[in-house]
Amino acid sequence: DWTMDAYREEAIRKIKDQVGDKPVICALSGGVDSSVAAALLHEAIGDQLTCVFVDHGLLRLNEADEVVAMFRDHMNLKVIHAQEQDLFLGELEGVSDPETKRKIIGRLFIEVFQKYADQIEGAEFLAQGTLYPDVIESVSFSGGPSVTIKSHHNVGGLPEKMGLKLVEPLRELFKDEVRVLGRELGLPDSFIGRHPFPGPGLAIRCPGEITREKLDILRKADAVYIDQIRKHGLYDDIWQAFVAILPVRTVGVMGDGRTYDFACALRAVTSVDGMTADYYPFTHEFLGETATRIINEVKGINRCTYDITSKPPGTIEWE
Ligand code: XMP
Repeated sequence: DWTMDAYREEAIRKIKDQVGDKPVICALSGGVDSSVAAALLHEAIGDQLTCVFVDHGLLRLNEADEVVAMFRDHMNLKVIHAQEQDLFLGELEGVSDPETKRKIIGRLFIEVFQKYADQIEGAEFLAQGTLYPDVIESVSFSGGPSVTIKSHHNVGGLPEKMGLKLVEPLRELFKDEVRVLGRELGLPDSFIGRHPFPGPGLAIRCPGEITREKLDILRKADAVYIDQIRKHGLYDDIWQAFVAILPVRTVGVMGDGRTYDFACALRAVTSVDGMTADYYPFTHEFLGETATRIINEVKGINRCTYDITSKPPGTIEWE
């Protein structure tokens, strides 16, 4: 892609001009935006870049290892894998209110990031994968009456608190352009095409209190569900798909015995920008097969429902 090639050269030149020989840090989430930003920064300034991947214990099955392996081993970036599961899950213990969960996670994220950033001597810059729509959104919301449905957590506010200057090499790009750039930078297609994943992670897919037991069950069910979607060739037709584990146990029967296990809800939506969404019209066959697989393969779940709520009035996530 000629245009993207030119953009890339220009972006690299701007990054070099801005940061000189100073160290830069970057919060790597494993999402497309921060991944492409990190890859571009790395191409521009190599080992001046250190990425911090915060593992809050609310990631999907094998996710942390896959992200760290890809960036560290495959792409040779400096990555700090911050293992902070105990901290996050400890503070979330007994908390069931959705906004309280987000606030705890957002606060700890900043604390943890700061702790690791402090270890990088002379760091002056913080790189972020801010896209053009993010820039527009933050402008159009300022000044007007703010109606917050969910307090989205990201690293907003972080640079000021830490006295760091921002590097935002994707500020002029839309999502589809970021994907093109990511491919050019050598990120695998499977990675570029991943569904969005929220900052608070599985916490908002586990309504009610979060326990390690529920998270383990949720991770396994989610992995089976996504496997089904990929096997049926549906992954790229769907904006986002995930399982939510419900805070209720229901009675079932398996073999000769009675079970009393968690119920779960499958969610899959189509969307252009996440602002509105329609539930995905799976066939009954697909849904039946998937429910059977989840209940057979995941100990702890004995009932499966499909969420057919569109947005509005629902939201995509359950919290
Ligand atoms: P909702 O549930 O509000 O989600 O319809 C719209 C899109 O935003 C994602 N989402 C979040 N992303 N931090 C994030 O980074 C958050 O707190 C958060 N909450 C929701 C959601 O996954 C969907 O893509």
